[in-house]
Amino acid sequence: MSFLHNLMGILVDKFQIVGGKALDGEVVISGAKNAALPILLGTMLTKEKIVLKNVPDLRDVKTCIELLKILGKECSYDENGSLVIEGKIHNKVAPYELVKTMRASIMALGPLTAFLGEAEVSLPGGCAIGARPVDLHVKGLVAMGANITLDEGYIRSSTNNQRLKGATFVMDKVSVTGTENLMMAATLASGTTIIENAAREPEIVDLANFLRMMGADIKGDGSTTITINGVQELKGGEHSIVADRIEAGTYLVAAAATHGRVTCKNVNSSLLETVLLKLKEANALITIEENSITLDMRGRDILPVDITTAPHPAFPTDMQAQFMVLNAIAKGTSTITETIFENRFMHVAELIRMGADLKIKGNTVMCTGVESLNAAQVMATDLRASACLVIAGLVAHGTTIVDRIYHMDRGYEHIENKIRQLGGTIERIKG
Ligand code: UD1
Repeated sequence: MSFLHNLMGILVDKFQIVGGKALDGEVVISGAKNAALPILLGTMLTKEKIVLKNVPDLRDVKTCIELLKILGKECSYDENGSLVIEGKIHNKVAPYELVKTMRASIMALGPLTAFLGEAEVSLPGGCAIGARPVDLHVKGLVAMGANITLDEGYIRSSTNNQRLKGATFVMDKVSVTGTENLMMAATLASGTTIIENAAREPEIVDLANFLRMMGADIKGDGSTTITINGVQELKGGEHSIVADRIEAGTYLVAAAATHGRVTCKNVNSSLLETVLLKLKEANALITIEENSITLDMRGRDILPVDITTAPHPAFPTDMQAQFMVLNAIAKGTSTITETIFENRFMHVAELIRMGADLKIKGNTVMCTGVESLNAAQVMATDLRASACLVIAGLVAHGTTIVDRIYHMDRGYEHIENKIRQLGGTIERIKG
């Protein structure tokens, strides 16, 4: 069956969750989706062989591999489970069929333009001028000398057979994939590129480490100013993807919400300091070891926490939906304010259907804690909303059905196995 047929098959899968049990045990955290995607696309910057370890088995990763193959790369897994990417890209077109399923494909634009001197990348579905624009990606490349036009739903870029030129670029808004796209493009540009107001997420640092391994000259990643001195070419090598801090945060919240005890292995606590602070504020007992984090909520009340999302190192928007469940069953009232994305409260209506007392006022949700949640049939609307509904299902007494879990498969590796290992009852119902 083709990749797209497979995709159609999983579109109708559902999760059936029987809640009411405390999660207890250990879970191994996978490589970060948001680091794996730019790094996979960054392999376009060399013709040499790249070996990637700790690549999560996710739908978005499969989509990215599919895209790399279309562009000319050979991708395979070796006997150790590492992803091996070889060959040279020769096709400049990132087609709509793939890009529409994964917005991160916009990050093909920088590497394609830098390596081939031209690119045609479909605009991510419905996002062009709406809630998630890509203007910063485009403006940055134009500052580096690319000619860019928008034509029939495609962003077409060309350098007229010249190398991109280093430039100083101030991001009007802090953008994670925008910063990554420009970092990748700048590695092969002539001269120095300075990205001001750059994103500081750990995944930016992981991408910079990967690019440095390839021979790129990058400084300042993890701060708001990133400086890249372009080089003539980049070489191959090996890299291991950083742990997924959002996956770890999600299991920790699931442990807290079910009054359980969970140890997340293979993750360094420095990746999620703000989330851990908020979990402590919610009254969780947190124990940190070198490469693991344990949360214990047995016999402890959940206390409400006020949250405002903002770019790293502040509270991540990707953990907002999961904390909504915690506040929904906390002892008292709290507020959750979303400042990164409009319309990222789609999970609120579903939680209300499960008995939560939540009120939306603009970009803030007022949460009044209730005793518990009721099982219900609910619909996932995006990746992190799905995680929120799965946690809610684990909390609620009775059987919850979460529909449209294909969102979940984009970002959580083997989620039902991991939850079952922790004692949760969850089944995938094939559509
Ligand atoms: C990345 C993450 C996503 C996370 C988000 C915010 C990946 C693959 N995805 O998404 O999980 O939720 O960061 O932490 O890493 N914006 C513009 N113009 C642009 C680009 C962005 O106005 O050209 C705006 C967006 O609409 C949004 C804000 O900037 O309001 C931040 O978005 P951005 O950081 O770009 O999100 P992504 O990189 O798409």
